[in-house]
Amino acid sequence: MNIIGTGSALPKKIVTNGMLSEFLDTSDEWITTRTGVKSRHVISDEKLEDLAIKAALKALDDASISAADLDFIICSNVVNEYVTPQLSCIIQGGIGAACPCMDINCACAGFIHALEIAESFYKAGRVNKVLIVCAEEPTRMTDWNDRSTCVLFGDGAGAAVLGPGENIRSIKLSASSATDKLWQYRLLHPTPYITKEECDVPLQMKGQDVFKFAVKAASGDISRTLAEVSVDPDQVDHYLVHQANTRIITAIRNYLHQPDEKFPVNITDHGNSSSSSCPILLDECSRAGRFNEGDLIVMSAFGAGFVSGAVLFKW
Ligand code: UT7
Repeated sequence: MNIIGTGSALPKKIVTNGMLSEFLDTSDEWITTRTGVKSRHVISDEKLEDLAIKAALKALDDASISAADLDFIICSNVVNEYVTPQLSCIIQGGIGAACPCMDINCACAGFIHALEIAESFYKAGRVNKVLIVCAEEPTRMTDWNDRSTCVLFGDGAGAAVLGPGENIRSIKLSASSATDKLWQYRLLHPTPYITKEECDVPLQMKGQDVFKFAVKAASGDISRTLAEVSVDPDQVDHYLVHQANTRIITAIRNYLHQPDEKFPVNITDHGNSSSSSCPILLDECSRAGRFNEGDLIVMSAFGAGFVSGAVLFKW
């Protein structure tokens, strides 16, 4: 399996740290030094599905194929306006595809989980072209009066088209259930039989616990991914790490003893856009001409669950 095209789309509204400090007890200095975020794109009057469709069409164009060529669509999404139907089906119709599709919710690690699923379809000989779309609006999950969470996130969509090939060298996924560290409750409709107490709770996060998990999981996933195919960290040209916090990225970089220039970042302008973060970064690096053919790239992501994963692929 090879990645043969990428695309991304962002909401037009840009919210700076200064704008947040107008209604929150926070500052540009705190957010920048603790997270690396300076501004983020935030959904306003757009619909997430429109961003997803735009990112998908850009990826198809980049791959020089049409939607009719697709054999499967996988969409990674945590929340959107619809409970049902699934976002992948809305994207399927929006781009004019006719293939089957499915959604997955693996939080910020969704793109790597989608790659693992697609890779098994390729190994089974069932597909020729697959589209992965990650579309996320985490800014609709947070309480905008909670300075410890709402400053971290941004929205957007990232997509990749896959074709046959041998460029995916290794993928490792992990899960370790810790549902009290990063979670949100949504209120479902009552029934005559519900007696338990239920409530609508926005995103809650134990930041330091998530931070420690992220560094440990990413370091372990990357090491296992490289070890499986006997690749040394020094042989990798680029490390695309989930854009959650520059301090997390630095800790992973230090663990691997790798130079700063191998770790592209876009968190400064995007914040954490959940599973969209990795494919948006991939698309931006690709379009900026940062990759050369044959480069070895590691991608690593971690998120609520906890779940995490890493992949090594050749460009
Ligand atoms: O996609 C995966 C999801 N999430 C992550 O990867 C997040 C992982 N965690 C983190 O990135 C960091 O833990 C945070 C950025 C969330 C927080 O940074 P921290 O260095 O762990 O700060 P903290 O939670 O220990 O809070 C330090 C102080 C607290 O004040 P006190 O108790 O020391 O007086 C907070 O109330 O900073 C305060 N604080 C803020 N101050 C100004 C928390 N948020 C803010 C804020 N502005 N926005």
